[in-house]
Amino acid sequence: MKIAIINGPNLNMLGIREPDIYGSNSYDDLCSNICSYARKKEIEIIFFQSNGEKEIIDFIQDIYSSVDGIIINPAAFTHYSYALHDAIKSVPTPFIEVHISNIHAREGFRNTSVTASACIGSISGFGEDSYIVALDAIYRHISNNI
Ligand code: DQA
Repeated sequence: MKIAIINGPNLNMLGIREPDIYGSNSYDDLCSNICSYARKKEIEIIFFQSNGEKEIIDFIQDIYSSVDGIIINPAAFTHYSYALHDAIKSVPTPFIEVHISNIHAREGFRNTSVTASACIGSISGFGEDSYIVALDAIYRHISNNI
């Protein structure tokens, strides 16, 4: 099984950025922890991080047919990018949305996701483990739908 994990703007700053909210691990730490877990489940992961909406949309359009599923943390795009919502809906590949923090327990502008409704489901608030929970969920979803 091959899964792409997309991270949006400022997630390359993990470890430096508001560690009280996002933890002290760097983006590279996050990727290597996900990789160790994925290896045990024999899942191949392709990582992509960009600060740009266009770059993320282009990546989705380039990769969707060569992966079984996509996990996406759209970061701030979650709250206003209809273009990203449409990009997710444009392809048949299953998506799961993840957030490190609990977006429902933070500032009002973070309580709304315009992208989650384009995904199978969303996971928020488990720190780095949100990605692990999402990996299990997408693995089960894909296995059950073969
Ligand atoms: C985030 C939450 C968003 O509100 C924020 O803009 C991010 C990170 C999270 O993973 O908790 O950049 O998506």
